[in-house]
Amino acid sequence: MTASRSYDVRPPMGLLAELTHRCPLQCPYCSNPVALERRRQELDTETWRRVFAEAAELGVLQVHLSGGEPALRPDLPELVAACVDAGLYANLITAGVNLDRARLEELADAGLDHVQLSLQGATPEVTDHVANMAGAHVRKLAFAAEVTDLGLPLTLNAVIHRANLHQIDDFVDLALELGARRLEIAHAQYYGWALVNRAALMPTREQVVEAVERVEAARERLQGRLVIDAVVPDYYARLPKPCMNGWGRQSLNVTPSGKVLPCHVAESIPHLEFWNVAEHSLDEIWYDSPAFNAYRGTDWMPDACQSCERKEIDWGGCRCQALMLTGDAAQMDPVCEQSPYHDEVQALAVIDASGSPDFTYRRFARAT
Ligand code: FES
Repeated sequence: MTASRSYDVRPPMGLLAELTHRCPLQCPYCSNPVALERRRQELDTETWRRVFAEAAELGVLQVHLSGGEPALRPDLPELVAACVDAGLYANLITAGVNLDRARLEELADAGLDHVQLSLQGATPEVTDHVANMAGAHVRKLAFAAEVTDLGLPLTLNAVIHRANLHQIDDFVDLALELGARRLEIAHAQYYGWALVNRAALMPTREQVVEAVERVEAARERLQGRLVIDAVVPDYYARLPKPCMNGWGRQSLNVTPSGKVLPCHVAESIPHLEFWNVAEHSLDEIWYDSPAFNAYRGTDWMPDACQSCERKEIDWGGCRCQALMLTGDAAQMDPVCEQSPYHDEVQALAVIDASGSPDFTYRRFARAT
């Protein structure tokens, strides 16, 4: 059933399945919500199987099995098989510190299509410091070697901030060395736990400019050998990013307990009501749930955005960031230079960039 609306809603393409919030790492920029869901709240195998079948029916093409650390779920091979049975492309997003060869073979046998490995640094000192886990770097490199040895396509994802921004060239070298097909260089986004550490993570404008130049040079040099995607840091930008490619336009997130969100931080917007897969089908949730329809299309936008020629390019930027920095999720994203808050945000970045480098680590390995 579809409610009447003034805009066109197309089926989603991607589903992020947050299988668990548990994680062995303690990254200071963790984007999971500040209030984590517990192990006892996690959906069981059968429910995930149904969710994947409903996702395929709805039009989803790709499932990103994520977390926390998805490999902490003992039923991960069954969940991969469930995606494959439903005809979905299965991508595993992992920290790569607790999957041995035998387990990886099980996943490959179940039909896993792709692995995305997070890197906190390009050297043991930086990785182990950022993840707050001794030996993490060595384990990640061993895992990456197993992935490519099994013939699985590998993407590396490096979240960049003040403590590792000097390693851009090293990340590129590492990607080539490890046989990755793609490298994502994504500047930390200041939501969730990352907001707690914003002053320790924020780079200076000069560092950002240099990093962008290095990424561009590597892209040019390695054309045809390595794909490099880059996400620039918001606060120094003039235009907002098209967060999620538009609210409720292309993808949905399912939390460990089955809440379905338009983006991974959406729960930070307190007035939104999220439907759960236990009570509604994904189809109902995608087309009719209040949270997905709250900022869909352009009708909700303030007047200045309504008359902007980029309104269907950046889709108003990021709703969660608008709330965080202006107190109103329906405001223009303050990263936009047209926003009355724009100068304030840039000033905030400059202040934070000289903040203490000490991290407040995310400790949730023992979530039960
Ligand atoms: Fe929620 Fe951008 S993170 S809309």
